[in-house]
Amino acid sequence: MDKILVHGGHSLNGSVRISGSKNSALPILAATLLTREPCTISNVPDLSDIHYMLQILSHLGAQVERASGVVRVEAEKIKTVAPYDIVRKMRASVCVLGPLLGREKEATVSLPGGCVIGDRPIDLHLKGFEALGAVSRIEHGNVKVFAGTLRGTTVNLRGKQGPTVLGTDNVIMAAVLAEGTTIIESAAAEPEVVDLANFLNKMGAKIEGAGSRRIVIEGVKELHGAEHTVIPDRIEAGTFLVAGAMMGGEVTLRRVTHEHLGSVIDAVRLAGYEVETSAGSIRVRGNGAPKPLQLTTEPYPGFPTDMQAQMCALLAQTNGISVISETIFPQRYMHVSELKRMGADISLDGHTAIIKGVEKLSGAPVMASDLRASAALVLAGLRAEGVTEVNRVYHIDRGYESIDEKLNQLGARIERVKA
Ligand code: EPZ
Repeated sequence: MDKILVHGGHSLNGSVRISGSKNSALPILAATLLTREPCTISNVPDLSDIHYMLQILSHLGAQVERASGVVRVEAEKIKTVAPYDIVRKMRASVCVLGPLLGREKEATVSLPGGCVIGDRPIDLHLKGFEALGAVSRIEHGNVKVFAGTLRGTTVNLRGKQGPTVLGTDNVIMAAVLAEGTTIIESAAAEPEVVDLANFLNKMGAKIEGAGSRRIVIEGVKELHGAEHTVIPDRIEAGTFLVAGAMMGGEVTLRRVTHEHLGSVIDAVRLAGYEVETSAGSIRVRGNGAPKPLQLTTEPYPGFPTDMQAQMCALLAQTNGISVISETIFPQRYMHVSELKRMGADISLDGHTAIIKGVEKLSGAPVMASDLRASAALVLAGLRAEGVTEVNRVYHIDRGYESIDEKLNQLGARIERVKA
């Protein structure tokens, strides 16, 4: 297993191009199953999670071609069973359920296991499918859904932790070919849901209200092929924004949609850093220690859970006490024990992290876990004294396209050691 060595203390300057969004590309690639005609998706990031999704599409019978960031999918004839040995590698595989059910009226996908950020139920996905008239069954570690006819309905997809992103995506994809109109209440409003709806509408779907809590889908007979360019990855952008704040001279992010990062930009500004936005770019000027913050993760447009670990890395070196409350995945603190190995002073009380700023972190061997926690360890290493060895780097490669190369281009000193 590869590891990376982060040599601390090198400031960052210059500009970096942000890749296409992983969390938008994954459901959009699944949505290509909804038509027999070819679809071309551009700005697809080169990530292992994308590779796994393309493997699943191929296994289901689709023709898949990839040339750098452009993927062509033609799903003329498809099977409806996604195999365990591929699905187990990536929870987001669950988003093939909706298109398979929508098009073939049946689907079998192995249940997404739990992961380090906590339990990953799909009860809300199944609630939506059942409201459309499907029957769901859990057997031998698989979830099987099937229906004679899918009929439009009104369904509320709010769970105890709020809306569900992939659950909203799945129910939209099951409803686009249903008979009649479907209304999703308490829908997720993330930009990635909007990007999926825009792609489906290009295919001939009739979806209104994406980006709000109420989405209306008028079922159509069939969908045709379409072309689409995936939106920029707002979490990769947020990660580099925090890196620039921690280590910048001046860092400019290019090919970003700054409107998707409002709550993250606000937090970095509140921490005392200068952030300027213009069409397609964000510029941040780093300087000394950040001011302490109180943050709560919330569904979009609130502060994203996928940026919580990165903010812990930033706030670990501040003058004062910060408090972060994680309401989406209450156990999402795998990074805390590793940051403490680097000298951070963080205590956990349930889903709340109390971060007492320290003068300096020190480099240490640390273990990557969930992909955002792993990115946080790289950020902490940029600023720590000495060398930080981040093991199990495959976690980072799931969600970040060449993060070490991009940071080195900005002036960092990171070595990737092939295992
Ligand atoms: C998406 O996961 C993202 N993944 C996650 O990003 C992100 O953290 C999450 O949304 C934020 O909500 C992709 O888009 C591929 P949820 P998703 O359903 O859709 C509970 C990353 O780092 N819930 O929105 O799987 C769930 O347990 C990843 O790129 C139910 O209770 O998450 C959680 O507490 C990590 N029942 C909350 O809802 C359900 O049926 C939000 O989960 C579904 C979810």
